[in-house]
Amino acid sequence: MFDEIRFNTILRLPNYVFAEINEIKLKARRAGDDIIDFSMGNPDSKTPEHIIEKLIEAAKKDKNHGYSASQGIYKLRLAICNWYKRKYGVTLDPDNEAVVALGSKEGFVHLVHAIINPGDVAVVPDPAYPIHTQAFIIAGGNVHKIGLDFNEEFELDEELFFERLQKAFRDSVPRPKYVVVNFPHNPTTVTVEKSFYERLVKMAYKERFYIISDIAYADLTFDGYKTPSIFEVEGAKDVAVESFTLSKSYSMAGWRVGFMCGNPKLISALKKIKSWFDYGMYTPIQVGATVALDGPQECVEEIIGVYEKRRNVLIDSFANAGWEIRKPKSTMFIWAKLPECAQHLGSMEFSKQLLTKAKVAVSPGNGFGEHGEGYVRIALIENENRIRQAARNIKKYLQELKKK
Ligand SMILES: Cc1ncc(COP(=O)(O)O)c(C=O)c1O
Repeated sequence: MFDEIRFNTILRLPNYVFAEINEIKLKARRAGDDIIDFSMGNPDSKTPEHIIEKLIEAAKKDKNHGYSASQGIYKLRLAICNWYKRKYGVTLDPDNEAVVALGSKEGFVHLVHAIINPGDVAVVPDPAYPIHTQAFIIAGGNVHKIGLDFNEEFELDEELFFERLQKAFRDSVPRPKYVVVNFPHNPTTVTVEKSFYERLVKMAYKERFYIISDIAYADLTFDGYKTPSIFEVEGAKDVAVESFTLSKSYSMAGWRVGFMCGNPKLISALKKIKSWFDYGMYTPIQVGATVALDGPQECVEEIIGVYEKRRNVLIDSFANAGWEIRKPKSTMFIWAKLPECAQHLGSMEFSKQLLTKAKVAVSPGNGFGEHGEGYVRIALIENENRIRQAARNIKKYLQELKKK
């Protein structure tokens, strides 16, 4: 019916790249297979008790059940600014430089929606967390991708990054207006130092672009690495916004709480569009989130500890299984090069075979962009016993593969 009515926005979106893997996973589960699932960045542990308690207390109050404030209640915006002060020594204004989002993904999508004119170009590193590219496509913009390279320690190759970024500004017509950065990076776990932001901010002033920085994994760091914030750089607020989420640090993914801070012009654009799209997050959730940010932070250390232990167990047990992988120093992921005997298969076929032959689900690297080919992303969302079981299954599978 009505073939002339076409949904152009939807037509511009690619099919969900992980759909094929999900389909196989679903079928296997229905057939009774126990799939060890490392495919999604969905934290499996419970939200800390004191945060849940606060949510319940707030939910019992009569006044907390109406529409809330779409930009977030003042106390939560204040807690966000205190978080920045505590963690980075950065001062932010809760009224003009901070906005609460229904998850940082929502904040990102709506910010992009608010600021993109048709045909505007954004530079996004490849591979990427998919919404970092698709948000621009949904909003009618275009993306100029630049390959993301890194060293053995998963540290960004800064020289190459800036070379490619400069080239993007030379080549792209129209000139890019936005640059997206996400360090620690999903899916590659790549990290940067403050010097990277110093260079980026300087370039933003010179080339006249805004920076959208996503530090969703800022807390999930190991071996002494500390994530910098772009706002540690003098003058960054003039050219940048940065987002963070409670999903990972506090295991609150289902609560949908994130925030975006920084440049008042961009923050005000996000606030304005949100005031049209939503009525704000359920107030008791915001009260719980305030306590998460303002309350005791030992729970964050515990959550980091869980991922760190899993990372170590996975690296060791997979090495025993014949799959040597380098250790990341951040995020809840492992960005694993395909084992040598599987490199001819490519990321997608290897992921399919892991699923059907070893009962282990991972995300094929090329699903995050063409520079992800040759890798898979393993999310640390299964416990240590399950990780060891996965290693045993993989060992058998790799032995079979080598015989072929
Ligand atoms: C880099 C990055 N940013 C944002 C998000 C989304 O976070 P939220 O749960 O706050 O929407 C994720 C989730 O996996 C992510 O990997």
